[in-house]
Amino acid sequence: MTASVPEARELLAGARSVLVLTGAGVSAESGVPTFRGRDGLWRTHRPEEIATPEAFARDPRLVWEWYGWRRERVGRCRPNAGHHALAGWALERGVTGGPGVTLVTQNVDGLHEAAAREAAGVGDPAPALPVELHGSLFRIRCTRCAHRASDRSPVDAASEASLPRCPACGALLRPNVVWFGEALDPGVLERAFAAADRAEVCMVVGTSGLVHPAASLPLATLRAGGSVIEVNPDPTPITGLARYTLRGGSATLLPELLASRS
Ligand code: OAD
Repeated sequence: MTASVPEARELLAGARSVLVLTGAGVSAESGVPTFRGRDGLWRTHRPEEIATPEAFARDPRLVWEWYGWRRERVGRCRPNAGHHALAGWALERGVTGGPGVTLVTQNVDGLHEAAAREAAGVGDPAPALPVELHGSLFRIRCTRCAHRASDRSPVDAASEASLPRCPACGALLRPNVVWFGEALDPGVLERAFAAADRAEVCMVVGTSGLVHPAASLPLATLRAGGSVIEVNPDPTPITGLARYTLRGGSATLLPELLASRS
């Protein structure tokens, strides 16, 4: 049902363990395009041409050109008030020894991580980093060997010869993101489902709830006896499962919902 912020706050405050699942909508107010909205990326680009292993094998230059463009665009974006509210709240609950929060994101934009590092303070070795289900635009991996690295450098996709190459074996590097038709990292998936199983509340923010296995996480929480809160301006397949639905943008609603009252 559609609820007001105080009801959802109360449910969260009483939960010993919370899973937060986010999607592209949480970064919309930072200027990162979503996938399926009015100006969504999948309106103008066909995923099978740029986000599959087959596409990369066929035309790595085209795929890198698109990822280079996204990296450049997303690299200019900053965490918004929603990312900051989540990061501050997760830190606060950790620091006070309070109920645990696991943040699981489908986003590849790195904005939760940036907000977590800011909340933890410079030099903190262990900020509460998100579980990134679909990888990151700012990590690369080798198509042949085990080499993996963080990488924010611009991509020269002028020709196949100028594409990024592995420093260890010379093979082509690829973005370390999950493409259509690829399996998610089993360790990452296990952490996400373990958090869903133990969560008393799963809060689902800014996702259309259409892509599995991410969209199955709230179902796992429900099966284990927990509740779902949804934060989204529009209805989704998750709406009917949610105990409370908060309608609006997450950069406004999350600070209201999660701000400390002390
Ligand atoms: P979508 O683009 O499918 O959905 C974005 C959701 O955010 C929609 O439900 C919007 O209503 C909501 N939204 C828009 N503005 C919002 C705001 N200001 N505050 C809160 N919510 C807002 O994005 P995802 O659900 O993340 O996968 O997409 C899931 C996966 O599909 C992505 O990770 C990507 C894509 O294909 C891969 O690339 C593997």
